[in-house]
Amino acid sequence: MHETAARGLEASRARTTRLTELDDVELTTQHSALMSPLVWDLAHIGQQEDLWLLRGGDRSAQGLISANVERLYDAFEHPRATRVDLPLLTPREARSYLADVRGRVLDVLERTDEQELFPFTMVEQHEQQHVETMLATHQLRDGAPVLGAGTPLPPGRPVPADAVTVPAGPFVLGVDGADAPGSLDNERPAHVVDLPGFRIGRVPVSNADWQGFIDAGGYDEPRWWSAEGWEHRTDAGLERPLFWSADGSRRRFGIVEEVPPDEPVQHVCFHEAEAYAAWAGARLPTEQEWEKACAWDPEAGRRRRWPWGDSEWTPALANLGGDALRPAPIGGYPAGASAYGVEQTIGDVWEWTSSTFEPWPGFEPMLYADYSAPFFGAEHRVLRGGSWAVGEGAVRPSFRNWDLPIRRQIFSGLRLAWDGV
Ligand SMILES: [Fe+2]
Repeated sequence: MHETAARGLEASRARTTRLTELDDVELTTQHSALMSPLVWDLAHIGQQEDLWLLRGGDRSAQGLISANVERLYDAFEHPRATRVDLPLLTPREARSYLADVRGRVLDVLERTDEQELFPFTMVEQHEQQHVETMLATHQLRDGAPVLGAGTPLPPGRPVPADAVTVPAGPFVLGVDGADAPGSLDNERPAHVVDLPGFRIGRVPVSNADWQGFIDAGGYDEPRWWSAEGWEHRTDAGLERPLFWSADGSRRRFGIVEEVPPDEPVQHVCFHEAEAYAAWAGARLPTEQEWEKACAWDPEAGRRRRWPWGDSEWTPALANLGGDALRPAPIGGYPAGASAYGVEQTIGDVWEWTSSTFEPWPGFEPMLYADYSAPFFGAEHRVLRGGSWAVGEGAVRPSFRNWDLPIRRQIFSGLRLAWDGV
């Protein structure tokens, strides 16, 4: 487990390094008002590692940088749009800070008991989450490509765009620390939930499907939209997914290319997802439905660790890890199907659910107590399953992401659901 923890930390650092091997101007520029300059994420990764792993979360203890500088990396104190104006560490200072923290952390890890490893996986996942955030910054950045076109993915295959039936009945929602030691506070505890029967899309909604919505005038028909959604659609002038152009092309990490019809749609906000579902005669799944379809094994009467079973992830099972720089075509992962036959739940695109972000009964905040609790409530909608940009150690069938319903710079798509069986 110590080795696993060290490997996890190394893997997330390798990804951070790859996304920040850029000149100082690139790192200190604010590429979008929605995002921090990359150099902020870089030093913030070190600051959090310093806080949780070298000081046990004690903010009053002296860290490796002065308290005044450390405060610049408090995500609650400084909104993203203002971070570029702060007297931040330079890229060179940030890199040496990260290396210094990591060296000490590996020493601490060696002396840590098997039972006390949770903070290490928590910090690894924090870094992986910022890697995904930095990928979103890269995607928003203008100018010539710096990341390339991405590594190859498995081909798609024709899959009926049909629904899978999930009969009514109880299942176990969420996980406990004993079964899933890397799970974060909002995924716990495991508890039994009884759901009515429902149907859920076998695969995510594709770009071709989404083009059908555009062609049918979906963006011009208030009847498919909630009142709040229509107001946002009008104010923000939404006409198609973010990064798409009217000529059928899209911009992806600086490369302009034709929109591939067979990829899961991404860069749509919750309001768009909800409108699409209404137009399609469906609805978004709740996160409980999503998790049951992904992880429950009705024959065995228990959860699987992954949709395909308990075996470790491999690139043949799901598109994770970020190297592809895009979702895989529909049908690319038959071996990754869940017990119910639902495909591509893990990886590819985050899937919007209809659920607002609420604690499970018996919720207890973890060491990083402000990770989930400040965000509970109706303001945020839950997304499930992880995207292609997510690190393997930072997603599980129980993993819950949340965001504002207007956000679409994230790698977000959807899957449909229907009442009844
Ligand atoms: Fe953070």
